[in-house]
Amino acid sequence: MEVYKRVIKRNDPCWCGSGKKYKKCHMQADQETNRKHPPPKNRYAKSPEEIAGMRRAGAFNGELLDYMRSFVKAGVSTGKLNALAHEYTVSHGHVPATLNYRGFPKSICSSINNVVCHGIPSETEILKDGDIINIDLTSIVHGFHGDSSETFMIGAVSPEAGHLVDVTVEALKRGIGAVRAGNHLREIANAIEPYVNSQACSVVRQYTGHGIGRKFHEHFSVYHHRADDCENVVLEPGMTLTIEPMINLGGYEVVTDTEDKWTVRTKDGSLSAQFEHTVLVTEHEPEILTLTPSEKAAGEIVILNVHNQ
Ligand code: MF3
Ligand code: CO
Ligand code: CO
Repeated sequence: MEVYKRVIKRNDPCWCGSGKKYKKCHMQADQETNRKHPPPKNRYAKSPEEIAGMRRAGAFNGELLDYMRSFVKAGVSTGKLNALAHEYTVSHGHVPATLNYRGFPKSICSSINNVVCHGIPSETEILKDGDIINIDLTSIVHGFHGDSSETFMIGAVSPEAGHLVDVTVEALKRGIGAVRAGNHLREIANAIEPYVNSQACSVVRQYTGHGIGRKFHEHFSVYHHRADDCENVVLEPGMTLTIEPMINLGGYEVVTDTEDKWTVRTKDGSLSAQFEHTVLVTEHEPEILTLTPSEKAAGEIVILNVHNQ
């Protein structure tokens, strides 16, 4: 703290450029994280041009998610959903980010029931009544990434599955609620994990949110679980990141398919759900870049897409 104290005093303007006094802004966060010196200003923050690019990418990804809604129902194959998302993206002049990303073979991830994430769409995998499925979409729009996902309930799902999906939506909302300039990254996990545990569910630890921009997965990881090795990052206006809690009905442990090397399942076979948005840190409320048109119309951050047929 010594170096820092010489540089900035309680009543000085905060280093982040908010215009607030240091004591009313980052002082507490800096003390809590035992920051030794002032961080470079806006280390991770994007420029106004980059933010404009991220807004366009997020908006397109939200439109794509709304486009997909009517197709996600019993009887459709995940391979067909992949083809629909691919064609919509390409026909708008954009690029599906997951296709060939580190060797991932498809344009969406589709993760059914006990699949936690990174499920590979297939022509032979057919949605059926009672399934829950996460569709994770990522688009590259003029060089910038938008990344979001929803878990859909197909027809009449079990009360347990409904509970899990409700808890996961609420976990995302709470995580987004912790996205405030001056908050430490760990506030996001603090907002999510105790709540999830109180609902008899668990937070997957092996996969996290992430910084996002020109690259799919940028710089810091965004933990949804509380852990000592959470990176020492204070949120600053202009940063863009994803929040994407994966929540299990059973334990948090996961296993990766040894054959396809992608599909991640719960170790105990329990159901898993996930919701994801890409968000921008601002001086005030976080801006959810991947809001879908239907979410915007409803004024709700996550609209459940329930098909009862
Ligand atoms: N969309 C996922 C995320 O939210 C990442 C998928 S990477 C892939 O970060 F390779 F599996 F496609
Ligand atoms: Co993501
Ligand atoms: Co994603």
